[in-house]
Amino acid sequence: MKESITITDNRSGESIEIPIEDGGVDSGPWTKFLPGIWFKDEGFAATAVTNSSITYIDGGAGQLEYRGYSIEDLASKSNFTEVAYLLVHGELPSEEQLSTWNSQLTEHAALDPQQNSSLLKSFNEHSHPMGMFTAGLAAMSTLYPDARDVEDPQIRQKHILNAIAKVSSLAASAAAFRNGHSASSPQENLSYIENFLSMTFSTQDKPFEQNPTFSKALDQLLILHADHEQNCSTTAVRVVGSSHADPYSALAAGSAALSGPRHGGANEAVLNMLDDIGSFENVNGFIDSVKSGEGRLMGFGHRVYKNYDPRAQIIKDTAHEIFELTGKNPNLDIALKLEEAALEDEYFISRKLYPNVDFYSGLIYQAMGFPVEMFTVLFAVARTAGWVSHWDEMLGRNTRIARPRQLYIGEESRQFVPMEDR
Ligand code: CMC
Repeated sequence: MKESITITDNRSGESIEIPIEDGGVDSGPWTKFLPGIWFKDEGFAATAVTNSSITYIDGGAGQLEYRGYSIEDLASKSNFTEVAYLLVHGELPSEEQLSTWNSQLTEHAALDPQQNSSLLKSFNEHSHPMGMFTAGLAAMSTLYPDARDVEDPQIRQKHILNAIAKVSSLAASAAAFRNGHSASSPQENLSYIENFLSMTFSTQDKPFEQNPTFSKALDQLLILHADHEQNCSTTAVRVVGSSHADPYSALAAGSAALSGPRHGGANEAVLNMLDDIGSFENVNGFIDSVKSGEGRLMGFGHRVYKNYDPRAQIIKDTAHEIFELTGKNPNLDIALKLEEAALEDEYFISRKLYPNVDFYSGLIYQAMGFPVEMFTVLFAVARTAGWVSHWDEMLGRNTRIARPRQLYIGEESRQFVPMEDR
């Protein structure tokens, strides 16, 4: 069997053969052969924007790997900072490399105090922390003039580390501010996750009491959210990064993209949906309303997975462990019943709609004491590792600026009509 496709231009009868490489066909020969004929693909449903060696997904099989390691192995055997190192560097770290990486992350965790306090003054207790987080990243772009030198791989590495280190403080600062206090400072003797929890929940009168079950669950959730190849927010980072904007501006774009309810904002939307459903008995009625087009079942469906999202399975198991500790949340019963009803329903079966990563994650975050508005921020802290890895991979290859085409369907050229003649 030939690994190629043939395109015939029926206007001229001419054909060209394009090889299929790595599962795709290059647009170069197409554009040369058919100048001015563009491939229409709203939502990039059939467009591979790049070759990448970071994350592999087989959506049909429900398989996810970072740098060749299965998500199941990473979630049970690794920890978030090790996974972040793996994503950024391509290999698991040695003991010494991990220890240096962890110390550097703590060393760079503190935010610029003057900028952070000025920024916080512009928010109030109702400010959404995702907006605060995005603004914090954009503000960081003003602090590091050298970060603009995006073609220098060493400068990129420096700011990759700085970004991963600082996002946890940025998230903690937003959470603490909304709780009416200042985030405490990062401490050298705590891990990335412990520091994040401590900065978020410690108050002047009461230091946060670490709970190993919570830290482990949060660590695992961050691993599961760390990367997901060319998703909406990573694409936003790539598009902005392709103009050679500084990394913090590109990350702010990623964070803004993540905030939407069809993407990272789904974890918040799931909890609000469960609250609205309110009780077990209302589940079937809610499913009927979704089927009649009144809204979506949040936390269900995925562009790539046409099978159970492997991350959702891991999170579901962790949710049970957490609830054994904290006592059951009535929303878990509603979620389980929703899942059961949807998985038996022809509407969801025929569209291959399964629970995704966001279906159960919010229940765990809530059990740990995070307010609903913070859920997407937690996702953003994790995904920063993926964003910077893709950004670096793209710049390392000197990729062209992202600049899609359009098929113009508007008015033809026409004369301007003066106001008095309209
Ligand atoms: N509830 C009900 N119907 C749905 C849902 C849903 N959650 N998701 C898709 N559909 C239907 C959709 O209406 C369409 O039906 P029809 O063919 O009759 O028009 C069909 O399924 C295909 O949907 P689509 O909108 O073309 O699918 P997409 O690949 O463009 O969208 C999605 C993917 C994740 C945006 C979508 O499934 C969705 O909105 N889900 C709910 C939000 C959500 O949970 N997002 C988190 C995604 S995972 C975390 C992340 O990476 O962000």
